[in-house]
Order: sequence, then structure tokens, then C-alpha cells
Amino acid sequence: MAMTGVLRPGHIQLKVLDLDESVEFYSNVLGLTETGRDAQGRVYFKAWDERDHHSVILRQADSAGIDFFAFKVDSCATLDKLEKDLNAYGVATRRIPAGELLETGERVRFTLPTGHDIELYSKKSEVGNGMSDVNPEAWTAAAEKGIAPIRLDHCLLYGPDIEKAQAIFTDVLGFYLVEHIALDDSQDLAIWLSCSIKAHDIAFVRHPEPGKLHHVSFLLESWEKVLRAADIMSMNRVSIDIGPTRHGVTRGTTIYAFDPNGNRFETFCGGYQCYPDNKPTKWTMDEVGAAVFYHDRKLNDRFLTVVS
Ligand SMILES: [Fe+2]
Repeated sequence: MAMTGVLRPGHIQLKVLDLDESVEFYSNVLGLTETGRDAQGRVYFKAWDERDHHSVILRQADSAGIDFFAFKVDSCATLDKLEKDLNAYGVATRRIPAGELLETGERVRFTLPTGHDIELYSKKSEVGNGMSDVNPEAWTAAAEKGIAPIRLDHCLLYGPDIEKAQAIFTDVLGFYLVEHIALDDSQDLAIWLSCSIKAHDIAFVRHPEPGKLHHVSFLLESWEKVLRAADIMSMNRVSIDIGPTRHGVTRGTTIYAFDPNGNRFETFCGGYQCYPDNKPTKWTMDEVGAAVFYHDRKLNDRFLTVVS
């Protein structure tokens, strides 16, 4: 499959209640690398193996949660085309000027029927992963600091009208449905969508309140690194929601935990690779427990009710 159009998740801007405490957490416990601060006071981070300037932005706010989630597209021409396609589909967009985020070009922002702001952009300064483009080593010291995920991987968002969000992603942006939990024959409780060969690049759960964040997810290299992440969380008294365990959906191995502000994050590994011609996997409500937590085969209340 040629990677064209929407390439991958590019950044998330999170709201935090205490910026200094959060910078300490994201730097030294999660193990991201700080790459800049802007005139608004926002703090920028990247995971160690990411090449672009940042993937996580923290903004001081009165409540926790998500400001926006962004996808990188392959060119300016694609950005222009997708903006026109969104408008033709009835989705209003607005342009955020280049430089409004550090080292980032123009962004196209739109609001999903779920209440979430999504952005597309094509340009962000490449700062590299600390290794040479020629004859590189296997990893750097940044890969040892804290949990040290490889990259921002996906997010799970809670809101109403998830079928309308699915239509925008699949009809306009080139995503495809990988898995879903069917509430009944006519509607889904949850959907997992991909723009790549990853089992998910974004996911949604039906929820009455719009614009909520369930979790932002970071990829680790192995099950051993997931266990090491659990050790680091315990050493630092991080509030763990559940895990280490495995999802039935995507088959990923996972831990859910909370940052100091109550934003849930996931450190995970695995999940299968998929292709757009794969038939979507369906889960039914009588097996929803196994879909989400494969070992326990039951949901904990927090999974469906605690969001930021
Ligand atoms: Fe996830």
C-alpha cells in the first residue's frame, strides 16, 4: 500500500492544570524530550524516535482534556485537496497560520460531530531522532529515560454521533474501519479507524458529552517494555487505571494510567498490522469485556465513565 494522503497522527495538544508538574511528569516519568516553549507558555515534546519537532503540546488550563488532535499529510497539495473535499462534504474548516505552533506550517482545522477539533498539516521541521542518517546506532540515551515510548500512536475520543465522524474519516480522509463493537444491528458503541497498516490511528466511543478524551496512546517496542513501564509507574506512584493486560480489540498489550491532571494515557505494544481490504472485525456486547480487556473479560467502570 502506498502511503499517500493522510500519513499518520502528528500531534496532540493537551490541557493541564499544573504546567510545571506536568512538564516534570512528561519529561521524566513518561520520558518525552522537551523541544520548545512558545510565547503562549505552551511546552512542546517529542518521543525519542520521532523525527519531527514535536508530537505533544501541553497548555496550562482550568480543566484537563484535549484541545486538538492532528494528522500529518504528505504534501501542501494534499492539504489543499482535503480541505476542499471536507468543505464539499459539508465540513467547515479554518486555516491556522504557519508558526502558530512552533516549527509547524499552516494547519487546517475542523470540528467533528463528536465535538473534537481535528487538524491536518503538511509541514513541521524535522529535528531527527538523535541518530545519524548514515550508519546509525540502534538507540540513544533518550530511549532509556523514563518510560521512553517510540512515538505518539493514536487517541481514543468520546462523544456523540460517532457514525458521522466515521463517515468523514472514511469518505473524505481515506481511513478505513478496522474493528467495531456493535451496540445492536444499527449502531456501534465504538469504532477503530486506520489510515495506515496500524490497527488504529484514531478511535471513538459513543458518549453523550462531546469533545472528551479517553486516552492518548504511546507505542513501546515490546511486552518487556510494557512491564518496565508498569515498574516506572509504580516507582513514581502514577495512578494506574488497568494493566498490564491485553486488548481483544487490536490484540495490543497495554497499560492505562493517568497523568497528574487526570488525562488518561496508554503505553502499549503490538496489535496486528492490517490493510484496507481486510474485513472489519466485529465484537458484540455480550463479549465487550473480552474486546476491551482480554484477560479479565470484563470492563471496569472507569473505562466507560472516566474521561477528561
Ligand atoms: Fe489505545
